[in-house]
Amino acid sequence: MAKLTVRDLDVKGKRVFIRVDYNVPLEEKDGKMVITDATRIVETLPTLKLLIEKGARIVLTAHLGRPKGKREATMSLAPVAVKLSELLGKPVGFIDDCIGEKVEAGVAALKDGELVLLENVRYYNEEEANDPAFATKLAKVADVYVNDAFGAAHRAHASTEGVARVVTARGGKAAAGLLMERELKFLGDELDHPVRPFVVILGGAKVSDKIKVIDRLLEKADTILIGGAMAYTFKLAHGEKTGKSLVEPDHKQTALDAETKAKKLGVNFQLPTDTIIGTPVDTGKLNKKGKPVYDFVDIKTIKGEIPDQAEGFSIGEETAANYAKIIASAKTILWNGPMGMFEDPRFAAGTNAVALAVVEATQKNGAKSIIGGGDSVKALNKAKLGDKVTFMSTGGGASLEFLEGTVLPGVAALSEK
Ligand code: 3PG
Repeated sequence: MAKLTVRDLDVKGKRVFIRVDYNVPLEEKDGKMVITDATRIVETLPTLKLLIEKGARIVLTAHLGRPKGKREATMSLAPVAVKLSELLGKPVGFIDDCIGEKVEAGVAALKDGELVLLENVRYYNEEEANDPAFATKLAKVADVYVNDAFGAAHRAHASTEGVARVVTARGGKAAAGLLMERELKFLGDELDHPVRPFVVILGGAKVSDKIKVIDRLLEKADTILIGGAMAYTFKLAHGEKTGKSLVEPDHKQTALDAETKAKKLGVNFQLPTDTIIGTPVDTGKLNKKGKPVYDFVDIKTIKGEIPDQAEGFSIGEETAANYAKIIASAKTILWNGPMGMFEDPRFAAGTNAVALAVVEATQKNGAKSIIGGGDSVKALNKAKLGDKVTFMSTGGGASLEFLEGTVLPGVAALSEK
């Protein structure tokens, strides 16, 4: 990576404006918002510790949720400041705005090695609009810009892109944080030059969501293993019945084209050979969004076509065993997307078997395992295997766009070494 990083910076006594991705899940408990997964905060600690050691005056900016330019109390970053302070073992100030006099005064009071977190930047519409005047206001407290928010780097917003432009136009530096550096290394360099065999596991709901990734990885991988509901669109494209399964009839050709490309490039492209199905029954209840809640009966594993009344929910045991065998031979593994509806224990076995195979290949065979963010990270954490792989991305949409080969605006705006 040719981008400047925090390691290269001399920041003693300087105001370092850091964009982090503290868009963490929160739940209301006894009238208070409680963080249910602090991974994204924990992952920024190496950058913060390094900058504290170097004597920087740290100004942290982030978004939380999508408040659409309004002050939504449930989307305040105040609980994040408390959590960060706990994790760092030192005070973290919190300012309930991200621009203006209050911020300027708060930052002016910082001493070397101290830090402050600003309130949700998305309380202003100008953030998502990447408004230059707003970026200039944010940059008022920035001598140096650092982006450690890989998860938000696919957004060309004021705090992810605009401020970097303002700071560099003034002759200042815009550098990558250590988390950003790691994300770019594992999702970028390591996959561009993989140790072979390179096995890619792709799941998730839709072919249309993943086709660009499939297309790009077909040029790099030795094997691609397909799972999740997107496998049913491949089934449909082969003229098989898919019952009530989630399919994309408009993407039958997309699926067939991917298979043709795989054949041409000599990539071992595997589709599930069995499926766990269930028959949906309306419970008569409605969920929070007012949509009918279904339960599933007659759950079983089948081969071949999915009956009219049934729906596919996961890869079956035979597929899981076959995929596990292939994963065991890998030296580089990329996994993006679960193999089925893992949130429901009745359909989690296939995803868990793949997770275990990835962990074993890492621990026993020294394979490099890279988990491409989103639901596959959730599935690994649910199976308590998250700390047993080489790297788990903190990005969701950003990881997917990066794997597609898109240049992320938050990365593009950073200074070259
Ligand atoms: C994420 O959670 O994927 C990032 O924080 C980006 O959030 P956004 O999709 O609301 O821009």
